[in-house]
Amino acid sequence: MERLQKVIAHAGIASRRKAEQLILEGKVKVNGEVVKELGTKITDNDRVEVEGVQIEKEAPVYYLFYKPRGVISAVTDDKGRKTVTDFFPHSEERIYPVGRLDYETTGLLLITNDGEFANILTHPKYEIEKTYVAKIKGIPIREALKKLERGVQLEDGKTAPARVKMTSVDRKKGTSIIEIGIHEGRNRQVRRMFEAIGHEVLKLKRERFAFLDLHGLNTGDARELTPHEVKQLRALAEHGK
Ligand code: URA
Repeated sequence: MERLQKVIAHAGIASRRKAEQLILEGKVKVNGEVVKELGTKITDNDRVEVEGVQIEKEAPVYYLFYKPRGVISAVTDDKGRKTVTDFFPHSEERIYPVGRLDYETTGLLLITNDGEFANILTHPKYEIEKTYVAKIKGIPIREALKKLERGVQLEDGKTAPARVKMTSVDRKKGTSIIEIGIHEGRNRQVRRMFEAIGHEVLKLKRERFAFLDLHGLNTGDARELTPHEVKQLRALAEHGK
């Protein structure tokens, strides 16, 4: 389900604001009926006409992108910083990231123009596992890692159970590398989880999103998802895994 004004904007007919205006002016029909409600949600099966002309949906595209550091997970940035879409200069579609990674975080980010796909993959209800590797300050004790596994109290509530594994320790430098798998996608969640147990995250990388990894890609590279991978992701979300 997607908002009508977003569908019109994505079809390249008008900006989001202009689309809202067209709806309010009664120039938009859904399945033959004029719709003037801005909040109206429609599905892929609904037929939308703008000023009597049926809109064509863009063909969906799906990319797996290896986000570098110093890039914003957004389509534009008012401070002029690099955004993920700068890495797709030849894309004619209105693509955007599925969820987000912080400016400093590297790793796997899906990019698409399919809003429904983006919605199901970011909805916490569907519990897709995201795996991160964090380099942290200090060497956490076992009990602290257990806390992360069980869930820690953050400002916006307790985190869901996580998978946590210490992979290495540098005693000289006093740092550790921890792999952590979470099913939610709250703002700066992994950094805040480590803060909650008293360890600052020095570096963060998302290595996996469900069964997908960064194999064969360097930072800044992207590849298209195969139709089978897209189907598998939808199936995972539907089965709540
Ligand atoms: N958790 C974080 O803290 N940052 C990210 O970019 C992703 C998850």
